[in-house]
Amino acid sequence: MTSSNASLDLNSSRSGDIADAISVRSAVEHRLEQLVTDLPGVPPNLQQAVRHALLGESKRVRPVLLYLIAEPKPWEQGAVLDAGCAVEMVHTASLILDDLPCMDDAQLRRQRPTTHIAFGQSTAILAAIALLTKAFGIIAGLDGIAEAKRLRLSALLSDAVGWEGLVAGQEIDVNGRDSLIGVTEVEELNWLKTGVLFVAAAEMGAILSGMDDDRVEAVKRFARHFGVAFQTADDILDISASQGELGKDVQKDGSKATLVSLFGASKAQLSCQEHLARADQALVESGVNADPLRELMQRLFKMPKASLP
Ligand code: IPE
Ligand code: IPE
Ligand code: MG
Ligand code: MG
Ligand code: MG
Repeated sequence: MTSSNASLDLNSSRSGDIADAISVRSAVEHRLEQLVTDLPGVPPNLQQAVRHALLGESKRVRPVLLYLIAEPKPWEQGAVLDAGCAVEMVHTASLILDDLPCMDDAQLRRQRPTTHIAFGQSTAILAAIALLTKAFGIIAGLDGIAEAKRLRLSALLSDAVGWEGLVAGQEIDVNGRDSLIGVTEVEELNWLKTGVLFVAAAEMGAILSGMDDDRVEAVKRFARHFGVAFQTADDILDISASQGELGKDVQKDGSKATLVSLFGASKAQLSCQEHLARADQALVESGVNADPLRELMQRLFKMPKASLP
């Protein structure tokens, strides 16, 4: 990720088929907007907070990943997009909570004031719970998807987010950093904090496309390496990019044990590249059309060597 490539290109004029990272990203934006518009039963302040958090400038990596893995037929696109939006809601909820004063105490997110700064802590927490809950409602109601598949998707997303997944990662990140002494422990944390949701998104895409178990396993390997690399890149950007470039606070995790703080940015970058190479290998093994996913990764991981200590 260079600072200038830290987000997907928002200005592409390409349109038509939804087949590459940029067009999928646009379709996700459009659908997210629809999902949080005209909600008559929702208190206006809560609705505004949800919109504020969800519709800020984001790369939408997880729904794009899910969609590109699923390779949906035209008549499947709606359900696949909605599944991606559900994952994006989960991710956004995690960001709202991550930014709270009791966690990373951040002021800026997605080029906007963090949700608790804009709406207060109580509404921010409620917005996070609302997004998390809505995500499962969306999956339960996915149009045209068999009940057994919807159950499978809910269960795997629940496992990814829950007390053995992302929530566990955040607990260790915030309260258990002293236990992080080596690469293995830090990478396990990166896996829990970030990798699990990447794998959930990719696995959901694989299930929606009806892949056999061997291909699903390759897809999961791909997403695991992608996700761990993504968190390491994020930790490098935390020390090397500016707040304006990232649209969020920087220098937040320097005092925590990350690959960057423990071993230096060059080592972290090496680890990132190794994971990306392994991700690419698994991608080939999965049989998924690799080009759009490679394009996505290339856009995300152009890292600035010059600025590394
Ligand atoms: C930020 O995620 C939190 C991490 C896991 C590093 P993203 O970098 O995907 O954030 P958005 O969705 O683009 O805002
Ligand atoms: C957060 O990691 C990962 C989450 C599960 C939210 P960070 O704390 O590094 O994410 P940013 O840098 O604030 O986006
Ligand atoms: Mg954090
Ligand atoms: Mg944070
Ligand atoms: Mg970070």
